[in-house]
Amino acid sequence: MQVDKLLSHIEKSEKKLIDRLIEFLRIPSISTEKTYASACRDAANWLTKELSTVGFKSKTYQTSGHPIVLATAGNGSPHLLFYGHYDVQPIDPLDSWDRPPFEPIVKNCPDGKIISARGASDDKGQLLTFINACEAFFKLSGSFPCKITILIEGEEESGSPSLPDFINNNKEALKADYALICDTAMWNPSTPAISTMLRGIISDEIILSAANKDLHSGMYGGPAINPIKELAKLITSLHDIDGRIKIKNFYKDVPFSPKTKKQWDSLGFSSKKFLSAVGLGTPAGETGFSALEQIWVRPTCELNGIWGGYTGEGVKTVIPAKAYAKVSFRLVGNQKPDEIRQEFRNHLRSQLHPDCSLSFISKDKGAKAINISEESILVKKAHDALQDEWRASPVYVGCGGSIPIVSLLKDCLNLDTLLVGFALDDDNIHSPNEKYSITSYIKGAKSWVRIISSLAN
Ligand code: BES
Ligand code: MN
Ligand code: MN
Repeated sequence: MQVDKLLSHIEKSEKKLIDRLIEFLRIPSISTEKTYASACRDAANWLTKELSTVGFKSKTYQTSGHPIVLATAGNGSPHLLFYGHYDVQPIDPLDSWDRPPFEPIVKNCPDGKIISARGASDDKGQLLTFINACEAFFKLSGSFPCKITILIEGEEESGSPSLPDFINNNKEALKADYALICDTAMWNPSTPAISTMLRGIISDEIILSAANKDLHSGMYGGPAINPIKELAKLITSLHDIDGRIKIKNFYKDVPFSPKTKKQWDSLGFSSKKFLSAVGLGTPAGETGFSALEQIWVRPTCELNGIWGGYTGEGVKTVIPAKAYAKVSFRLVGNQKPDEIRQEFRNHLRSQLHPDCSLSFISKDKGAKAINISEESILVKKAHDALQDEWRASPVYVGCGGSIPIVSLLKDCLNLDTLLVGFALDDDNIHSPNEKYSITSYIKGAKSWVRIISSLAN
């Protein structure tokens, strides 16, 4: 099948493809909140139906969490496995949105047309670019240039807890030559990017308990340990004054010298602009590392939430019984999620006041960091295909975020993943007013047509 015909088919289908995205975005598939479980089911069923209309044999699989969609089409090698996630982030703070988050709208902006809704960029718009590319093959030729399997889950934003079992139970179906993911960003609106480094992650919730009930702070203030104060002390013990993490053995598996610094210099990244875009001006974090190094090749420990005691209106003089925090670590190099979790918990336990006790909640196993060789055939073919579509040289970048399946595919199936995405830095993923550019949506699909065609040859 001629690539040119496929590309112009996609261009001509713009309206229909946008309607498809709008339908998908109307489903409020927030994975972390139980009240949206039925919406997650709806999203999975919608995908299964949509995939069967574009030539796939498609099925929704129940898990102990949200359903997983698995679909296959085509024959012959290579076997391509595409992964995406239909779940989206929560919508709070709702009053910061210009419009209701699940009522998508297409708008003309100075930089071009955009579609705005929760999930537009992360990951509904992005994953549809691949499905739209598959549709072009099917509609124009009635077939596919090679075997294609599509796996779409609904728990990525909660750490993919059901994926390890699903992958282990479906190894035969998932045994592929290459994995492809569209869930990362471009370098800038005119320069595509291939992410060759992806940070890993672990998350933990801390519950610190002290007295067996809330106490009057006048009667007990002084002798009674305050769990909020104790938790704050434990949290500040995690970093030293230079921003280094003080947990034992934390840096043992972090590569000593970050690679290819010179190449990064030529990217012309400005940490000043990067920070000022979000209202900041003074770099924090580990001293001695540039912002790009901090995001791409250095591990971090972040506090994601902290609560406890009285937070309502007015005064309540109380010493609470418990205090809570949510923590997550970004991992790099060969850092092992289980080991880091143990060392972190030991670090806190070893300093605990005798009247306090700690418990921890973790809902997933975490994920290791990943490095993909720039020399691999997969990356090279994708590079040339992207260059043809965007008329600009794609750059190799790191990704500070995490996508848990990438290390699972490596460990369970020895599969390498191509990370190509068309999100822009100002897409507001995980934030109010998320959007996706229509150029990304259409040229993204065309990029996948070119990448699939190139890999199939
Ligand atoms: N698509 C993101 C990963 C990402 C973030 C890519 C930033 C490019 C730039 C993904 O959906 C995500 O948010 N992952 C979570 C995973 C976590 C909840 C296990 C993350 O990185 O926090
Ligand atoms: Mn995502
Ligand atoms: Mn996300």
